[in-house]
Amino acid sequence: MEDELVIHNLSKNFRVDRREIQAFEGVDFSVPEGRFLCIVGPSGCGKSTLLRCIAGLETPSQGEITCGGKSIQKPSKDRMVVFQSFEQLFPWLTVLGNVTYALQVTNERKPQKDTSIAATREENARKYLNLVGLTGYENFFPHQLSGGMKQRVAIARALAVQPRFLLMDEPFGSLDAFSRSILQEELLRIWQETKTTILFVTHSIEESIILSEQIIVFSSSPGKVKAIINNDLERPRYPETSEFMGLWKRLNELLGLHPKTTAQPVLRHRTLFDEAEVIQPIL
Ligand SMILES: Nc1ncnc2c1ncn2[C@@H]1O[C@H](COP(=O)(O)OP(=O)(O)O)[C@@H](O)[C@H]1O
Ligand SMILES: [Mg+2]
Repeated sequence: MEDELVIHNLSKNFRVDRREIQAFEGVDFSVPEGRFLCIVGPSGCGKSTLLRCIAGLETPSQGEITCGGKSIQKPSKDRMVVFQSFEQLFPWLTVLGNVTYALQVTNERKPQKDTSIAATREENARKYLNLVGLTGYENFFPHQLSGGMKQRVAIARALAVQPRFLLMDEPFGSLDAFSRSILQEELLRIWQETKTTILFVTHSIEESIILSEQIIVFSSSPGKVKAIINNDLERPRYPETSEFMGLWKRLNELLGLHPKTTAQPVLRHRTLFDEAEVIQPIL
């Protein structure tokens, strides 16, 4: 497939004080165009480092990453990243400014003073802010937003440049359970609308089941692919169903956790979230 991302026998070591730290080793998998793929694994198993390698922010020690057959060596607007931190926006720019700035810097050196180009950028930025439910907040500064709204801006900013791959490193990890759940629903809608390929890193088994079409399970010390699980549960996915629980238990077992002693997934009140648009603006 033309846009397939292939991770081939990838390893990454760090050297700290003459000590070799192996973040992950021998990682092999591929991501076809349009897929929603989750990577799940314990803290420290190399998830962020792997995503940074795919983004071109880190150089692998061994192996290769290719996109459409071409080797990835550096960052590109084809692979935009959304991080966990609420502080990834430029604090001195408004919501609209954060998105238009991304469009400006990723544009191929077009003249900056051409007002029609600026107007097109702004129109585009507004379109993506609308997609993430932030119409009406264009002139707010990041410090005037909730965590959930900041993550929405980060998602709009990444999507506005129309990447082939959206790389997400625990983007909802710092949100409260309520906001997290709503943003998961929103992200699924955005994925269906934009058809962007998504690689989503999480340490939440429940989140990986709710979101993905496929789950790469990582084990740690060093990080390795333990299993690749297809997730074809019917959507929307309810944690209280036996199919969901079955996959949840299987993933727990693969991760060396013991479902009998681990808390069950939080049962969520879907009827409330099904009306998410009503409460969305306050996030
Ligand atoms: N820049 C770095 N320098 C040295 N070690 C690092 C660096 N980044 C990550 N590591 C190490 O690599 C391992 C994997 O880290 P990370 O990718 O952050 O894991 P995860 O995201 O799964 O929690 C850890 O042992 C971590 O300490
Ligand atoms: Mg991480």
